[in-house]
Amino acid sequence: MPIRNSLERWGSLAKLFHWLVVLLVICQFVLAWLAHDLPPGMEKLTLLARHKSIGITILALATLRLLWRAANRTPVLPATMAGWEKFTARATHALLYVLLFAVPLAGWIMSSAKNFPVSWFGLVQLPDLVAPSEATFDIAHETHEILAFSLGIIAILHLLAALKHHFFNRDTVLKRMLPFARVPALLLLMLFAAGPGSDASAATPGAQTLEGSGATGTLQFRFSQAGATTDGAFGRFTTVLTTGDDGAPATLEVRVEVDSLDTQDKDRDSTLRSKDLFDVRRFPAATFSAGRITRAADGGYVAHGKLTIRDATRDVALPFTLADGRLAGQLAIKRLDYGVGQGEWRATSMVADAVTILWSVRLAPAH
Ligand code: HEM
Ligand code: HEM
Repeated sequence: MPIRNSLERWGSLAKLFHWLVVLLVICQFVLAWLAHDLPPGMEKLTLLARHKSIGITILALATLRLLWRAANRTPVLPATMAGWEKFTARATHALLYVLLFAVPLAGWIMSSAKNFPVSWFGLVQLPDLVAPSEATFDIAHETHEILAFSLGIIAILHLLAALKHHFFNRDTVLKRMLPFARVPALLLLMLFAAGPGSDASAATPGAQTLEGSGATGTLQFRFSQAGATTDGAFGRFTTVLTTGDDGAPATLEVRVEVDSLDTQDKDRDSTLRSKDLFDVRRFPAATFSAGRITRAADGGYVAHGKLTIRDATRDVALPFTLADGRLAGQLAIKRLDYGVGQGEWRATSMVADAVTILWSVRLAPAH
């Protein structure tokens, strides 16, 4: 697993920071809860000393994590998310970061104000942030409590959002943050290895991110116009396929710049780009995002995901083959399912509803 992030997945260090902090924050709530009802005494002191040391560790990890984030690319959010969803996701993450600093700092100020200097696991004594004062202690205590519970509530909402991404949107957002992606992949491999006709040699073993684009392949669309089968193509598109540690395809992301369409006729191309068909000004990209890939009976694969054209998103099972680093396949769709055909173009007598998409693209490891 690469240590650095890519545009598609979190690297191992970012994952380690994320899950270590999650674990430590849970410890914090447990320790605070255990200490809460105890009378002043050795046991309470011990629990709170641990709570403080872990809290300072969280503060340090949050700092390192932000520095590492700044030195890295961050994975892009799926194109299937609406603008407000992306905004909410980013705002929630920013708020979580703010709280990861604010909660421990309020705790540290509270301890200083009560004249309980903070020691990190008995190894290093930290400086006092404020002079002892009952009034400051009361404010910091209240602030620590309110901010800590806000962190808990926002983290739960964040957890629910992650589950929604996985089970409802069926995109890669949760998977790309999970630390042990190889476990389900290994189970799948065992299943395939036991099944008849399995061919594990179709892909190169090892977790990889493979990329292809219009420069290394073709993406055509075949439609019937006035009863004649006609071909067009998109010149600019990107394809990103990730494989699990067993080498089997795990996720597939495709992005097509719709404006790059070409049917060898300028007038027809501008009609296709217009409001009633692709409306490229409002919807510049068509996307496919699959977080689950299964093996097909014919030895190929099926990517289960969401296809978005214009503002319509549909569940699609996209069959493909992968041989010698070339990903190829074809898919039949109905243009009207995606609103490609408004007004007079809704009629199917001249331009049929059925469209076949054909692609073949050479993939190479991302760097
Ligand atoms: C992300 C880190 C932290 C979390 C999530 C957290 C959470 C909590 C929670 C939920 C409570 C119980 C609220 C209450 O009963 O007042 C608590 C109490 C406390 N926390 Fe933290 N805390 C964190 C960091 C720290 C740090 C860094 C310190 C000090 C250096 C600290 C010092 C205390 C103390 C002394 C109490 C007991 C207050 C009292 O009731 O006397 N906490 N913390
Ligand atoms: C104390 C609890 C948690 C905190 C403080 C926290 C904090 C964060 C933060 C700050 C980010 C943004 C990362 C960045 O952009 O640098 C993030 C991302 C993420 N978190 Fe959490 N998290 C917590 C718990 C969880 C849990 C329980 C799950 C899921 C089961 C989860 C799943 C994710 C996922 C999937 C992402 C990646 C989103 C993306 O790829 O855009 N988190 N988390």
